[in-house]
Order: sequence, then structure tokens, then C-alpha cells
Amino acid sequence: MSVLHTPLRIGSATIRNRLYRAPVLEGAGSGPDAAAAYAKHFVANARHGVGLIIQGNSCIYDEGRTSPGMTLVNSRERVLALGAMVEAVHAEGASVFLQIGHGGLYAMEAWHEPHASHRRDPILAVSPLPLMLRPVFAGIPVHVMSTDEVHAMAMRFGEVAAWAREAGYDGVQLASANAKLLDQFLSPFYNRRTDEFGGSVERRARVLQVIRDAIAARAGNDYACTVKIPVEKAPPMRPRTTFDEAMRMCELVEDWGFHAVTPVEVSVFPDTTLARGGVPKSLWRNEAIKRKLRAAAPGRWRRSLLLAGYVVGGRRRPFEPVWNRPIFTTAKRRVSIPVFAVGGIRTPEEVNGILDAGDADMVGLGRPFYAEPELAERVLGGDPAHRSCRNSNMCVPAQMLGMKGVCYNPEVRRERVALGRASS
Ligand SMILES: Cc1cc2nc3c(=O)[nH]c(=O)nc-3n(C[C@H](O)[C@H](O)[C@H](O)COP(=O)(O)O)c2cc1C
Repeated sequence: MSVLHTPLRIGSATIRNRLYRAPVLEGAGSGPDAAAAYAKHFVANARHGVGLIIQGNSCIYDEGRTSPGMTLVNSRERVLALGAMVEAVHAEGASVFLQIGHGGLYAMEAWHEPHASHRRDPILAVSPLPLMLRPVFAGIPVHVMSTDEVHAMAMRFGEVAAWAREAGYDGVQLASANAKLLDQFLSPFYNRRTDEFGGSVERRARVLQVIRDAIAARAGNDYACTVKIPVEKAPPMRPRTTFDEAMRMCELVEDWGFHAVTPVEVSVFPDTTLARGGVPKSLWRNEAIKRKLRAAAPGRWRRSLLLAGYVVGGRRRPFEPVWNRPIFTTAKRRVSIPVFAVGGIRTPEEVNGILDAGDADMVGLGRPFYAEPELAERVLGGDPAHRSCRNSNMCVPAQMLGMKGVCYNPEVRRERVALGRASS
């Protein structure tokens, strides 16, 4: 049996094989149909053999989502309501982790006009705004979290993990990359705190330790608890989490009892560095996306800023196959917990190459699952013939605006229709 088809134990979870659906937002929202919306995608992925599905980032507080399509997991009822989907995925043999987090400065209450005008609380920040962000946040109330508030947040992570376990989820992953709140703690670009959560690498990462302790206490020490660790590439000449610091963080999270780690390259800004590829042309070609963007950011200044982020991000970091390879292979040599690989992995050869060389323990694909719900069958079967995802990033603005988690590239859609696969 190849490594790809070998089960893997992660904390309390046993994953049937080494292929996972990386967290890519599904636009399922928080309404009564959220479980059904997730099930529509995940059950098909599971039926076609994927080992693990990591549900996209879901928010632990009632404010702090980065997109209107994100799911709130801020109450036990809300999390338990997703149990029906988890059960349906289990019936097809796959496991599901819930990714949990908060947007911090990039919460939609800061930038998405309809939500900003109904904001109840200020935007949560780790430290006072970096100078270069001050013009962007002009007029937006920002609150720097106190030490007690950080501990309270850790308790909330613990509670949410306990609800996730009760709902049947096989584990959790912290949304600790991609410029979200936890990443803002890890990053010296944002974090200039002088309490126990700021300063050295160890102290910036301490937020993960207190969250890990809270999850162990509330959900059980064995409950699969995993984490993403960012290596920050941009902006140059500014403080950021370096490669070496990120590798040190991988060691720390192992010491603190996390069951697996996903190291990834990101920007300090929420741009498309995390999903390298094209400048998303859907921003000016897709009428629904254009309408939603105008409603979210009616002011020219904010809209131009959002567009500029996408254009600059897309130009600066074009697609490169398996772009995180140096990061996950180094992490794998530094820790003994399972290491998850993700980022530009597309072919069965790449998947098997990573696993057979022992460069990572799980291999994830993100955007291709939007384009191809049956993708796992092809990868597990070693079929190199067909590849839908073009890395155009047309899915990215749609997700930011709360639309359905599907492929928005018309070329891919036409191809799937021609192959008779459009509705699978
Ligand atoms: C539209 C979109 C939404 C994403 N949402 C999340 C998320 O919720 N949490 C997360 O950790 N990463 C998220 N990511 C990053 C992916 O998990 C993945 O790391 C990235 O897309 C690179 O993998 P790929 O080349 O296989 O798509 C998202 C990426 C995209 C394109």
C-alpha cells in the first residue's frame, strides 16, 4: 500500500488516508441551511475518497468574520446544528476538522459597509495600528485587547472546541495564518505588546499555548488540535515572521501539545499570497461579483484599496507548483508531530512524491476542490489526465463577498459541461 492510502492518527482522530481538502471558505453562512450547504460539498468530496476535510475558517465571536459567508460558531447551538453534516461526511468514511478563528483588524465590520454600519463593538487589535495602516483605518474604532481579554478569548476557543467535539467533528484547526487575529499576534508587524503575549518569538506565540491549554481542558487533551504557522514574505523592510522564527514556532507548538502543524507562506496583509495565482479577473468580469463589491464598498477609496490589494498580491506572487515545499520539508525535520503540506499541489505525482519522500504526513489541495468535487478519486487513483483548477483566483473575491464556494472561472465551467461533469 502506498503512503497516500495509509491511515494516520492525529490526536483522537484516525484519518483514512493522507489526502485532505484544505480549508477554503464555502460561503455557507450561519443560517438554518448552513449544515446542508456544507454537506452539499463535503459529502461529495467524502464519497470520492478524501481522507480529511478541514472546514473553512469559522468565527468564535459574533463579530469578527472576514466575510459574510463565514459561519459563526459563537454558541453551542450553532455548532451542534452542524452535526448533521458531520454525520453525513462520516457516513462516507471521511473525517472533518473545524477551523476556528477571528479576523481581528480585517473583520468585515471594518471594511464591508453594510456590516460596518451595524457594528456594535470596535475592531479587535493586538497593538495600536502600524503607522502604514492608519490611513486605511481612518474613522474605524479599534480596540487593543487587554491581557485579560486575550485569556478570555483563549477560553472561548476552548469552549468552541468542546462544542465541536460534541457535534462530532474529529478535531479543530486554529486559523492562525493569513493575516487573521491569531496571525496578528504571531507577527511583529502587528504585535508590539509588552505583556506576556508580545516580544520574543516565544512570547508572540504564547497566545497559541494558552489556547491549546484551554482546548485541552475543555475538549480533552486527546482531541485533535492542529494549527497553522505562517512564514511572512511581505512587506520587505518591515518586521515580519521570518522562516527561522516560523520553524521555531513549529517546535513550540509541538512542545505545547498540538497534534499537527501546517506551515505556510503568507503576506502580512490579507492578499492572494496565501493562494498564489492570477489577478482575479472576476472582479471586473463577473456581474454578480461587481455588484456585491459595490455594495460592500460603495466608497471609491475603499473599493480601489481592495482592488489594489488583489492586483498587487497577484502580480507579486504568481503561481508556482508546491510553493511551500521548503517550508514543510524543513518543519518535518524539526518536529515529530504530523506536518500538513498545502499550496500549489496539483498532480498525483506531486502528492505521492511529497509523501513517499517523507517530506510531509498529509497533503492538501484547496482551490481544486471548488472546481472538481470528485477530485479525491482522481488523485487517489493516480490519474494525471484531467486538471480543472487554473489558479486564476476568480474564487477569491467571491469568497470575500460571501458567495457560494464554487469555481468562478467560466473556462473551467465550460470544460466541465463538455465533459458531462458540471453538476457533480
Ligand atoms: C477562496 C479561498 C478561501 C480560503 N479560505 C481559507 C480559510 O478559511 N482558512 C485557511 O486557513 N486558508 C484558507 N485558504 C487558503 C487555502 O487553504 C490554501 O492554503 C491555498 O488556497 C493554497 O492551496 P491551493 O493552491 O491548493 O489552493 C483559502 C484560499 C482561497 C483561495
